Amino acid sequence: MPIHATDHGWVLETTTTAYALGLNRSGLLAHRYWGPRLPDLSDYPPAPDPAFWSFNNVGHLTPEEFPGYEDVKFIDPCLKLTFADGVRDVVLRFDSAEIIAEPTPELRIHLRDTAYPLHVQLHYRAHERYDLIERWASVTNHDNAPVTIERIWSAQWHLPPGEHYRLSYLTGRHVDEFHLRREPLLPGLKVLESRRITTSHHANPWFAVDRGDATEENGELWYGALAWSGNWKLVAETTDFGSTRVSLGLNDWDFAWRLNPGETLTTPGCFAGYSSEGFGGASRRLHDLVRETLLPHGTAIHKVLYNSWEATEFDVDEPSQIALAELAAEMGVELFVVDDGWFHRRDNDRAALGDWWPDARKFPRGLGPLIERVNALGMEFGLWIEPEMVNPDSELYRAHPDWTIHFPTRTPTMGRNQLILNFAREDVQDHVLGMLDRLLADHKITFIKWDMNRNVSQPGWPNAPGDPRELWVRYVHGLYRVWGTLRKRHPHVVWQSCSGGGGRADLGILRLADQIWVSDNTEPTARLAIQEGFSQIFPASTMESWVTDMGPAHLPLAFRFHVSMCGVLGVGGHLLKWDAAKRAEAARWIARYKELRHLVQLGDLYRLRSPQAHPLSALQYMAKDKSEGVLFAFRTHLPLNTLLPPISLRGLDPTARYTVEGFEGARSGLAWMRSGLMLELGDFESTVRHIRRV
Ligand code: GLA
Repeated sequence: MPIHATDHGWVLETTTTAYALGLNRSGLLAHRYWGPRLPDLSDYPPAPDPAFWSFNNVGHLTPEEFPGYEDVKFIDPCLKLTFADGVRDVVLRFDSAEIIAEPTPELRIHLRDTAYPLHVQLHYRAHERYDLIERWASVTNHDNAPVTIERIWSAQWHLPPGEHYRLSYLTGRHVDEFHLRREPLLPGLKVLESRRITTSHHANPWFAVDRGDATEENGELWYGALAWSGNWKLVAETTDFGSTRVSLGLNDWDFAWRLNPGETLTTPGCFAGYSSEGFGGASRRLHDLVRETLLPHGTAIHKVLYNSWEATEFDVDEPSQIALAELAAEMGVELFVVDDGWFHRRDNDRAALGDWWPDARKFPRGLGPLIERVNALGMEFGLWIEPEMVNPDSELYRAHPDWTIHFPTRTPTMGRNQLILNFAREDVQDHVLGMLDRLLADHKITFIKWDMNRNVSQPGWPNAPGDPRELWVRYVHGLYRVWGTLRKRHPHVVWQSCSGGGGRADLGILRLADQIWVSDNTEPTARLAIQEGFSQIFPASTMESWVTDMGPAHLPLAFRFHVSMCGVLGVGGHLLKWDAAKRAEAARWIARYKELRHLVQLGDLYRLRSPQAHPLSALQYMAKDKSEGVLFAFRTHLPLNTLLPPISLRGLDPTARYTVEGFEGARSGLAWMRSGLMLELGDFESTVRHIRRV
């Protein structure tokens, strides 16, 4: 059992780490320890009892696990609310604790307000094998009057006392997602958030904090991610007293929740861990957790797909798709996906969203014959949908103009000519659910790309049953309900989460979708950097990556393939414009990928040289048993006569002997890791090398 109750409180132990909390002498639930696992339970320090310091008191100075807004406390609290009588002071004190063994060991701490019948439950799950702690909170109102919650976060994570911490985080924008940023944490708040009703391309609810000296493979860091696909907020706070904490949870921007008598509000989960093996060690643990505990299809190997979007855009019909499918099948593609343009009157992006049945002009016999042909060619069939959206020019909007998110007195702002359906409403959820359920029941579909191509504006919910600002959270609950129900009813379907590329990539959506469409930018040199950022959190088995025609023509097909082979390989180029030689080369790379994909999709990732930092970049995937691996290296542009540095492999068994494709003879794992190997690559050249234990 990894959770222990002791005289000083509780300790959660994972394979190599520990997290301790307890009550201090003022009765506050305080953080005690987070770091490497110590030999004995008595080694963990007791809860700190900070002394009074003029203008501040113990409430401000204690590293509380879940501070409420009360007392002389100016740090950012986890809970802020207004009681029915107008009191805005929430005084939470310890009530009881319990340890639950199954299915995942969990510590539950019950807190109560000292004057009002308000209960808060804090949940701590120990994901032992992954060295991760999962936290969330729920608040229940036992009063006979409602309470208005203005902020509720999932967790506050405390760093060991000290200064000079550095925050790593991801930011970007559409077609340019997942840039890795690093900056020192100085006194004050660093805020990252989404106000877009979805996770967003602009930042991701993930953090890593180190002392400024961690590298890919060495050094201590503390990291975490929120499992939520709506508005979120991350606040890294460093106080003038040398304490640093990172809070993650629902965004309090424009948020309010009326908690009626007897009701409970539960926050999304937040995962966090400590790594002594640098950024690479942190990523590998998150990857294993995602693959083994979150993804609906777990460690299933994903198929090579073809997607027609960049080739035919909206111009899809039965003959054009069959022509592409025949060429795709010849190349070894296993899954043929029809993107946008297939449904009722969808000729461009100005109409039809909401009407999810096949267009009778493009598919006069329905989708059936195309699917049969695709299956006869030996491939499975997939489809694109964008269920949360509606174009004003659609049957759905004409029937239900009031179903969108809007303020009745304001002209709604269009994004890509579309409006957002109010998924917070149950009637909207039921309608969409019914339509998609029929689509899946009537067709042999094994893959769905679920897209979302605009962000919110005029966030109104006319006639909302509660506070209309509950929209931000109830929308996501509605999305999860529709998607989750479809997933249960059609368990064989593999779902991909897309939002104009990587706008909805988070640990919450990965409980529904096995894959993420990382970016609409498929130009391979840009993609290298985007994929590196994405890999901080998500495993390669979730990283769909297509080979397309985007970018300069001089980029070799091999380079394009190698970039996409670092994730789940797909092809999105215009095959009718690819000559026979190009298709034959593509077929060879697809066959090669099939030999190596178990390593890519299920192996341990080692980022050897960063493409965001160097024109010569490399990464490696190793089988869990270290018996084989694969090395990818890429050179973009370097001045003539640049001497390339050796590439040191990682993750090999130092005493075993390995061969690396293209190099004479076997060497010890230690030799490949210490003296490395020299690659000869010209500009825009790349290589893929199989590593084998002999
Ligand atoms: C979004 C997606 C693309 C494609 C188009 C279709 O932009 O990210 O991959 O599906 O929509 O309209």
